[in-house]
This record gives sequence, structure tokens and C-alpha cells, in this order.
Amino acid sequence: MRRLKPRLTVIGTGYLGATHAICMAVLGYDVLAVDCDRAKVDALAAGTVPFHEPGLPEMLRKALDSGRLRFTTDLAEAGAFGDVHFVCTGTPQVAGSMAADLSQVEGVVRGLAPHLTRPCLVVGKSTVPVGTAARLAELLAGLAPVGAAAELAWNPEFLREGHAIEDTLQPSRLVFGVASETAREWLEAAFRPLLTAGVPCVVTDLATAELVKVAANSFLATKISFINAMAEICESTGADVHELSTALAYDDRIGGRFLKPGLGFGGGCLPKDIRAFIHRAEELGTGESVSFLREVDAINQRRRSRTVDLVREQAGGDLAGVRVCVLGAAFKPHSDDVRDAPALDVARRLHEEGASVVVHDPQAMDNARRTHPELEFADGALEAAAGAAVVALLTEWDQFRGLDPVRLGEVVAGRSVVDARNALDGATWRAAGWTYRALGVA
Ligand code: UGA
Repeated sequence: MRRLKPRLTVIGTGYLGATHAICMAVLGYDVLAVDCDRAKVDALAAGTVPFHEPGLPEMLRKALDSGRLRFTTDLAEAGAFGDVHFVCTGTPQVAGSMAADLSQVEGVVRGLAPHLTRPCLVVGKSTVPVGTAARLAELLAGLAPVGAAAELAWNPEFLREGHAIEDTLQPSRLVFGVASETAREWLEAAFRPLLTAGVPCVVTDLATAELVKVAANSFLATKISFINAMAEICESTGADVHELSTALAYDDRIGGRFLKPGLGFGGGCLPKDIRAFIHRAEELGTGESVSFLREVDAINQRRRSRTVDLVREQAGGDLAGVRVCVLGAAFKPHSDDVRDAPALDVARRLHEEGASVVVHDPQAMDNARRTHPELEFADGALEAAAGAAVVALLTEWDQFRGLDPVRLGEVVAGRSVVDARNALDGATWRAAGWTYRALGVA
């Protein structure tokens, strides 16, 4: 019998899954969250969010107090409990290839299917190459005891780190990729509160739903690389990319968001998603259609090289033995995520050229220490800057925007700053005796 309010499982309690499970419980659904990592499950069950996301710890406590959210490592328990199963495992880039690694998503379907003995819906939320859902739907129906009554749907997720709760509870849109009316009904029941609140919903087929997500991330990456390409032109012509960007943004067909020049995009999504898209399109024989994304990626990488060049220039042409203070490690502010973080990539390259690099980040120190043990770390910006010949601002945390150039100037060995995120007021820093260089300005 179909429940009005389906019981939900969320499989994979990483960034996306944990947020989804917590928010759905707060919306009033009974949720069982599953992860193969016992330590993660225990932490969440005890009220600890194992990553930085503003507001989420409070929401987790609220969900736990309501009694509607539980955690397990057992897929059999999930199969017995759930009507709608959300798959939220990662699809990282395969090492040495542009392809996405689908082993976790496929592993969940293979692990869960034998426990599906009554009609239910398995919903993929992970970002996957187009065609994956259709393949998984067949696999699921073949392995589940209930057969084709275990249906598969795709519901891509657009949440941004740092805004996860808002993006889950008030999303810009919902996308339901379905192959049947039954699947659509299940999804409508699982998202009833958001649909009632008027969130727009696009109901479509599986392939389109998969593509919406990669198309959205490709568009955002392209917009960032467009303004960064303009920054390269501005650097060689003496024009000012900030004024250019401001003037473009007044045209509301263009808009100012994601049009901020700087060190470019990183993180666990945009870079690997555009690469996996190129890879998949080439597999399908339509590589030409997205070949521009190679250029988007290349422009983005060049911003990192340009930042290293600027720091080297400021150091007098040679980084060997030069102390450099790096402000920022997370791929963006309000996150402790260091996956493909431009800041750490630049820090690593400076280190490889012989610089002695000291990093500070307000949230991402533990993760950065783990992934970049070759770098030095300091507990505060002032400590990181002590004795530095060059200060490089690589992630635009508010704490760094608010730094006092006079106070910082007292501890450094040389008043030289590279502002790779265009986060500082150059005039104020120059007035305090600093040589100020920023990306996108000659
Ligand atoms: C991104 C998308 O924005 C989400 O919609 C999507 O759900 C998510 O990926 C995903 O695929 O899961 P996120 O990676 O959290 O979200 O970060 P964004 O806020 O999109 O920022 C991405 C990168 O672009 C950051 O490195 C940021 O510093 C950079 N960026 C952003 C710029 O360099 N310039 C800008 O003007 C804006």
C-alpha cells in the first residue's frame, strides 16, 4: 500500500546525503540514513556533523530530538524500512582520467536491490554521466526480488556548500527524472511540503534529469572562465576587469553572479563535472558539442599559474627560500572542503619552487594538513604572516577582507600582497605602504 508520507532512506551521508536526511526529517518524514562508514554514522547519531556547514549542527539536533531521524550501516535495514531510497554517494573523478567513478553509486544499487521485497522507488541524486540512470534501472529490476516494482528515478541536487540548508528547503527548482507515473507519484509524495510551498518542478525523463545537473554546472563554470578570460585580456591591455564586470552585470540578461574575476573555480563538483561531461560526450560521439569546456578548464587552470607568477614577481623573480604567507585553503569561503582547492594548488606550486609556505584558513586547517603535509600551517593570519616576504590571499574569507594592513605590515618581512580573489581594497593597502597586486588588473 502506498503511504501518503513515504518512509525515506538516504544512502551515503556525505555532504549531500547528511544534509538531505536531516532536512527531510525536519520536514516531518521518517528517515533512515545509511553509510558504510561506521565512524560517520556514530558521529551523526551522536549529533556531530563531520564537516563544516553553517546551521546544520543545530538542524541535526532538531531532527534527532524529533525522533524522526536514525542512522545505520545496514542496507538490509534500509530495504525493509524505506519506500523511497535516495542514493547520495559520490562520483569522484577517476585518477588519471576525465571520467566519473560510478563504483559507489552502482555499489549501493547492487547492495540494496536484494533487500527490496515490496514496491518502492530508488532515487539517484548523485551527479552522473547521461545514460547511467537507464542502465541502473535495468540492473535494479534484475536484482530486486520485487523485480520491476523497484523503480528508479533521478532527482539531481543543486545545493551549494555553505548554503546547504537554504538550497535544500527552498531550492530554486526540483527536477524529477522519471520513467513512469508511479515514480512521479512517489517523488511528489516525498517532496510534498516543497511542492505545496510553490517550488517549481520540472518533470522529465531520466536522461534529461541527469543532463540538467551537468549542464547547470557547466554553465556556471563557463561564466566564471569567461570573466577570467576577460581578466587575462585586461592584464595585458591595462584595462580593469572589475569595472568591466560591473558594467556587464547591469545587463540583466548577463547578470553579475558568477562573474567575479579571480583565482577561479575548484571544489568537488565544478571541475570534475565538466571533465566527466567532456568524457561522456566523447564516448557518445558528440565531443565537439562540449569541446569549449576544455577551454573553460584551461582558462581556470591558467589563473592558478598566473597567481604563482605574480607571487614570484613580488618575490623578486625567484621563490627559493622565500617565506610566503597563504591566506585560505578551502576551495571557497564558508566551507572546510579542500577538494581541488585552488588555494592549496597554488600553495603546493609555490612550495615546489622552493618557497617556505605558511597557510592559514579559518575552517579547513585539518583537511588541508591531511592533504598537504608538505606545507606549514599557522593558527591565525598574523601568525602565518610573521616574517613573510609576500602575502597571498587565495580564499576570500570575511576574516581576511577585514585584515588591518597596518597591523599586518608590522609583522611581515616585506609589504607585498597578491590578492587573487579581489577581496581587498587595494587603495587602503597601498596607503599602508604595501605593494598591492590583484588578478585581472595590470
Ligand atoms: C556547485 C554549484 O553551484 C551547485 O549548484 C551544485 O549543486 C554543486 O556545485 C554540486 O554540483 O554539488 P559548490 O561547489 O558548493 O556548488 O560551489 P559554488 O558556490 O558553485 O562555487 C564553485 C567555485 O566557483 C568556487 O571555487 C568559487 O570560488 C568559484 N567562483 C564562484 C568563482 O571563482 N567566481 C565566481 O564569481 C563565483
